[in-house]
Amino acid sequence: METNNRKSNSNEISRRKFVGMGATSAAAITILPSFTVSGLGHVAPSDKLHLAVVGCGGEGAADIQAFMKTPKKNVVISHLCDVDDRMAADRRKEYPKAPFYHDWREMFDKESKNFDAVTVAIPDHNHAIVGLSAMQLNKHLYLQKPLSHDIYEARILTQAATKYKVVTQMGDQGASCEGMRTLREWIEAGILGDIEKVFCWTDRPVWPQGIPWPKTNPPVPKELNWDLWLGTAQQTNYIENLVPFNWRGWWQFGTGALGDMGCHIIGPPFKLLGLGYPTEVSGSASTVYNGIFSEAQYPESGPVSSSIKFKYILKNGKNLDLYWMDGGITPDRPIELEGGANMNEILGDFTGLKDYEGSTLFVGTKGKAACGWGGRSPVLLPLSLNKVVNVPKKYPRVDGDVDGHYWQWIDACIAGYGNAEVDSPFEGYAGPLTETVLMGNLILRSFNIREKVKRTDPVYGDMEGFVFPGRYINYKWDGPNMRITNFEQANQFVRREYRKGWGELKI
Ligand SMILES: NC(=O)c1ccc[n+]([C@@H]2O[C@H](COP(=O)([O-])OP(=O)(O)OC[C@H]3O[C@@H](n4cnc5c(N)ncnc54)[C@H](O)[C@@H]3O)[C@@H](O)[C@H]2O)c1
Repeated sequence: METNNRKSNSNEISRRKFVGMGATSAAAITILPSFTVSGLGHVAPSDKLHLAVVGCGGEGAADIQAFMKTPKKNVVISHLCDVDDRMAADRRKEYPKAPFYHDWREMFDKESKNFDAVTVAIPDHNHAIVGLSAMQLNKHLYLQKPLSHDIYEARILTQAATKYKVVTQMGDQGASCEGMRTLREWIEAGILGDIEKVFCWTDRPVWPQGIPWPKTNPPVPKELNWDLWLGTAQQTNYIENLVPFNWRGWWQFGTGALGDMGCHIIGPPFKLLGLGYPTEVSGSASTVYNGIFSEAQYPESGPVSSSIKFKYILKNGKNLDLYWMDGGITPDRPIELEGGANMNEILGDFTGLKDYEGSTLFVGTKGKAACGWGGRSPVLLPLSLNKVVNVPKKYPRVDGDVDGHYWQWIDACIAGYGNAEVDSPFEGYAGPLTETVLMGNLILRSFNIREKVKRTDPVYGDMEGFVFPGRYINYKWDGPNMRITNFEQANQFVRREYRKGWGELKI
């Protein structure tokens, strides 16, 4: 698809031009921010960010709610887009004045002069195309995590944020929470010493995974535009139990357990230790058998559980090993945890009910600390330390904590590119973090590459079977050039081909 690079009419100094202008240029025209004028809670139109929504159900609904909670009342839900009328119905009732589209391309073509920014909460395989198209229209962008489906897409989105000078924020709301600041203060105060290992784990997948591609093809629900839902993904028939939510388990659309929680759980070490591209990655995944010694092959679906090790060289030249585990696997219990305590409850956010989400454990030369997803609820180990250690708060907290992640982006868009900071910009953070997360998936998908071989065994005679050349090897990653240098076949997962008619991603 050719992405549209039209700009709004440059002759008018309109509200649309005002939003996103640098502070200096904005000050040169006579529209004054209403916060400075009235102080009465009234917000003049020129100070409001007009936000187009792509994906109205699921997380899209939660995102709208969080945006609208901003105490400054400086955002307007101006346009809505969804491919499924069932998922869009409630939002359309809530925002009856917002024009509604099924196809984001049509909305961008017809309406781009009427909105300033775009928020995207749709399945992962279409994040990059929508996100890049929005940036090419010079729209600020809030894009759900992970930024993309493929490593290549994440790299392009990162470069585009710089090129188009738009304010970008990934939807990893934990990045703005209090806990992230507390952890940073502990680390900088030297309480943990040099951090050498980090363990990240989650209960995901909490949807069907490690399963065969369904054989039946039910009719497409009449409310769903299947062609638009597929978007960049290769043509395939609609399958049961796919929408909403469960698309996560199919590599064609989703990014598995890592994609779902990686940015939230690997995010804290990534941000606090200033990580970039890993240098080496290794891992393993659960296997499933459908006969005696007969391994089932379900390469379309992510594994039931997996374990990945990422090696990093820190800025100070020291090594860091970062371990990821999902599907119920956890690292060893830290020896500092007493008796029979539930590790996931203390080191994460498990409440004994429903969902657990995940945890991160930092292991340093002097001490250990852990937190729940997104850096929330950090604790020092042993727990008794939390009563005695008192590190002064040196970093300002974000108003609204995780909701403040949304609000700070609105404010930054209004301030204009380069004039205010956000916690998860694509450049320098969300882009490379997404690449790390997706690097794990590259290993998991390579785990299923198999080759048929014939052998003569001294005991069993002539044998035929499969070997898996991508298993249990140490992958070397050339980050700048986006290449695995010691197992060529893995590079097929760096970048996927888009479906005919959807072009390719280029800035
Ligand atoms: N930050 C968080 O805490 C968090 C939580 C959940 C999900 N997410 C992310 O949000 C995204 C969506 O996940 P979900 O669970 O809401 O999925 P979902 O399937 O429940 O909902 C997706 C919504 O997008 C719509 N949609 C699908 N394709 C579309 C398209 N091409 N154009 C317009 N609308 C489209 C669907 O109809 C649906 O309304 C994912 O990237 C996921 O990782 C983030």
